[in-house]
Amino acid sequence: LTCSKKSICSLPPGPPPLPLIGNLNVVDLKKPFQSLMELSEKYGNIFTVHFGPRKTVVLAGYETIKDALLNHAEEFGERAEIPIFRKTTHGNGIVFSHGELWKTMRRFTLSTLRDFGVGKKTIEVRILDELNFLINYFESHQEKPFDTTVILNSAVSNVICSILFGERFEYEDPIFLALLKLLNENTKLLGSPMVQLYNFYPSLGFLFGAPRTVLRNVDELNAFLEKFFKEHRQKFNENNLTGFVDAFLMKQQQESRNSHTHFHNKNLLFSTLDLFAAGTETTSTTVRWGLLLMMKYPEIQRRIQEEMDQVIEPGQMPMLEDRKKLPYTDAVIHEIQRFSNIVPMSVSRSTSTDVNFKGYMIPKGIEVIPLLTSVLKDKSHWETPDQFNPSHFLDADGSFTRKEAFIPFSIGRRACVGEGLAKMELFLFFAGLLRKFIFQPPPGMAKADLDLTADVGFILNPMSHLICAVPRE
Ligand code: HEM
Repeated sequence: LTCSKKSICSLPPGPPPLPLIGNLNVVDLKKPFQSLMELSEKYGNIFTVHFGPRKTVVLAGYETIKDALLNHAEEFGERAEIPIFRKTTHGNGIVFSHGELWKTMRRFTLSTLRDFGVGKKTIEVRILDELNFLINYFESHQEKPFDTTVILNSAVSNVICSILFGERFEYEDPIFLALLKLLNENTKLLGSPMVQLYNFYPSLGFLFGAPRTVLRNVDELNAFLEKFFKEHRQKFNENNLTGFVDAFLMKQQQESRNSHTHFHNKNLLFSTLDLFAAGTETTSTTVRWGLLLMMKYPEIQRRIQEEMDQVIEPGQMPMLEDRKKLPYTDAVIHEIQRFSNIVPMSVSRSTSTDVNFKGYMIPKGIEVIPLLTSVLKDKSHWETPDQFNPSHFLDADGSFTRKEAFIPFSIGRRACVGEGLAKMELFLFFAGLLRKFIFQPPPGMAKADLDLTADVGFILNPMSHLICAVPRE
C-alpha cells in the first residue's frame, strides 16, 4: 500500500487551513518556532501546518523526532526544496542538495575535513592560534565596553577559512570584512517574513526587497569566492594541497574525463559557500550567547574559572585533553547550546518516499520540520527546560552526564557535518576566553538588564549588546 494513490494518504491533523493563506493566521512569521511550539500543545507531537499553499508536517518532542530521523532514517532523510535556496544553489553544494550529488559531496566533505585536521591536533593548534589573536583584540579594548559580533564571527570564520583555503585573514582585511558582512546580512534576511513569504508563494515571485537582497548578496559572495578559486588554480600543486578547495581541484583533475562527475565548478562554489556559511555564524553565535550568559550569571562564570584554576597549570590555556577534567565547564557549554537553541526548526527535511509513520500515510516529497526547540526544551527530558541550568548535564557527584535529548546538531542522515569541528571550537574558544578574562556588563548596567530574548533570523542571535573583558591576572 502506498499513498502515491492520493486516496490512501492520511496526513496528521492540524489547524484547519483557510483559503489561500492556509494557517498563516496562526503563525507569527517573526518567530514561527514559537507558534509551532504552541500548536504542538494542542495537536501533539505530529501535526500538519499549511504555510500558505505549502503543506508541512511538524515533528515535536524527542521520542517522535528520534523515531523519524533515526528509526526511519532513509524515509525522512531528504532535504526539503526551499525556493530561495533553489534559486541560489540550483541544487548544488551540501546543505540544500539531493540524491547522489548530495551523497558524493557529503562523503567528500567529511573525509576532507578529517584530512585537514578536524578531530586532530592540527586543528586544535590552529584554533588555539586564532584564540591568541582574539585575546589580543579583547585586550586592546582595555576593559571598555565593545560589541563582539564581528570579531567573534571573524575568529570562528578564520578556522573554517584555514580548512577551506589554507589561510587565515587579518581582522582588518577589507575583503574578509565584506564577506562576513554579506554573510551576516543573509543569515538575518533568510529568517525574515518577506523571505518566508517568498518560500511559501514562489510562483508569485516576490523578487523585491529582502529576497532580492539575499540573491544579490549570494552573487557578491560568489564573486569573491571565484577570485580565490582562480588563485588556487594558478598556484595548484598536487604535492602540497592547502585545504578543501585544493582537494576539490585535485578531484576535478582526476575526474576530468568523466562527463557525469559531481566535481564540477558549481559544486566547488556552493560546497565552499555552504561550509563557509554554516561554519561561521552558528558557532560564533553560540560563543556570543555563552559570554552573554556568563555576564548574566557571574556565579557560574566564577565556578568555571575556579575549576580551571584547579586543573590547569598557571599560565597554561585549556586544551581538549583537559575537557574530561573540567566537568562543570563542559556542562555549562552543553547548557549554553541547549538554552540558546540557535537552529530552532532545524533545516527542513522531506520524505524520500511515502511513509507509514505513527499511523499516518505521509506522501513522498512533503516538507518535514523537526522542531528542535521542542526537544531542547522537552519537559519530559529537562528538569527546568526554560531556565539556564548547568545541572542538566551533571550527576549527583558533579560528574558530567550526557543527555540523549541534547541534539542541537540534529540527528540522522543529514545531521550537521560540522559537529566535531564546532565542539572543538566551542570548548577551546569559550574556556580559553574565560581563562583570560572576567566578562562584565558595561558600567552602570545591572545584570538584570541583560536581555536573553532572541533576535529573529535563520538562526537565533542574542540581541545587540556590549561586553567588558577584564583581564584576570
Ligand atoms: C547541517 C546545526 C556548526 C556544516 C546542520 C543542521 C543543524 C546544524 C541543526 C541540520 C541537520 C539536519 O538536517 O539534520 C549546527 C550548529 C552548529 C553547527 C548548532 C554550531 C554550534 C557547523 C559547522 C559546519 C557545519 C562548524 C562546517 C564545518 C553543516 C552542513 C550541514 C549542516 C554542511 C548540512 C548537512 C547535510 O545536509 O548533509 N547544522 N551546525 N555546521 N551543518 Fe551545522
